[in-house]
Amino acid sequence: MRIMEIKKSGAALSKIVQIGDKLKQLTAQTGQEYLPLNRGINSVVNIDLREVVAGIDFNANELQVYPPGAGFPALRRAINEEYFGGHSAPENILITAGGMNALDLVLQTLKVEKLSLPVYYWGSYFHIMTIRGIGAGEYMAQAELEGMIPQLRGNAVLICDPGNPLGEKYDDQRQFALVKQLSDAGVVVLFDSPYRRIFCGREDTYYQRLMELPNVIITESFSKSVGLSGQRIGFIHATDRELLDELEIRLMYCTNGINAFAQKVVLELLTSEAGIRAVDEFKAATTRDIALNINYLKERGLLAEAFYEASTPKGIFVVVNRTEQQLLDHRIGSVSLAFFTKSRKEEAARYARICVSMPHAKFVQFFDGVK
Ligand SMILES: Cc1ncc(COP(=O)(O)O)c(C=O)c1O
Repeated sequence: MRIMEIKKSGAALSKIVQIGDKLKQLTAQTGQEYLPLNRGINSVVNIDLREVVAGIDFNANELQVYPPGAGFPALRRAINEEYFGGHSAPENILITAGGMNALDLVLQTLKVEKLSLPVYYWGSYFHIMTIRGIGAGEYMAQAELEGMIPQLRGNAVLICDPGNPLGEKYDDQRQFALVKQLSDAGVVVLFDSPYRRIFCGREDTYYQRLMELPNVIITESFSKSVGLSGQRIGFIHATDRELLDELEIRLMYCTNGINAFAQKVVLELLTSEAGIRAVDEFKAATTRDIALNINYLKERGLLAEAFYEASTPKGIFVVVNRTEQQLLDHRIGSVSLAFFTKSRKEEAARYARICVSMPHAKFVQFFDGVK
């Protein structure tokens, strides 16, 4: 007799995983290579960790026993230096098991009825919201948000820039003015932009400016900016003490601390000479090929330009004016844009999202056949 009752969330697993399985099956059946541009993974190069890990003492006590619940103090200090120019405080930073965990913690802790997402959004936002009982609002473009302030007040807005799935980058100055207006008007802004730091490093002062805005919460990840999605590590930055205190409690009781190896590797990447060099080389190779691939798509007339009227296609994703099936015919994996929207499915089905973080030569080899 089955006695278990389940609290069903209504959320679903990602279709992107199923596409990956389908590509593997096709490769097994045909013996031919399929290009997995359906994934959100930087694949130009792997970050080279060999020199970095050589300097780590894996027998050290701090790597073998429970880490502090909020993260290693040294890593929180290093993040304050790297992302906030030393102007925030380690106490404003909580180490999480990746960006997904950071988002989930924030969404389970914030008392808001609605979170407004861009019209084309990363599906996991919606699934976490479903699990945590938060309703979804929608905005068409960032320029629309100012006019929506009266109805957004007391609720939250999500900003992802460069975005997933479009890979669109908005102008920093204009975006900051908008985020300030929202925060000043009592709208919580969830700034989840894990692709931003692929394209810049500690010279970037944007987070220092965002940090001044009391209603802004930043969720970040080392999955994209240093290519370590396997390590499951990211962080939350906020300045509201009450929010931070509750987040820290929840973080403790869902993780009991974040993997110490992962924390140590990231600490080395941010602070040691070998680590900084490895990050620089990874970002240089990655951003070079992303730019080459986007230019190639533009020149070939394959980029869906209509999505980039108020923004710039930056990556790691872009949208092309071919369908998922048309690309699959050329052994290119992608995800139909229809998968990323609730209100524009019909129009979006004519387009596909691809990851452009792929070696340029390989990318061209597959796309040259697409007419
Ligand atoms: C927009 C966005 N935010 C957050 C994440 C979370 O990444 P992770 O959980 O690997 O840190 C992703 C991953 O694909 C993403 O696309």
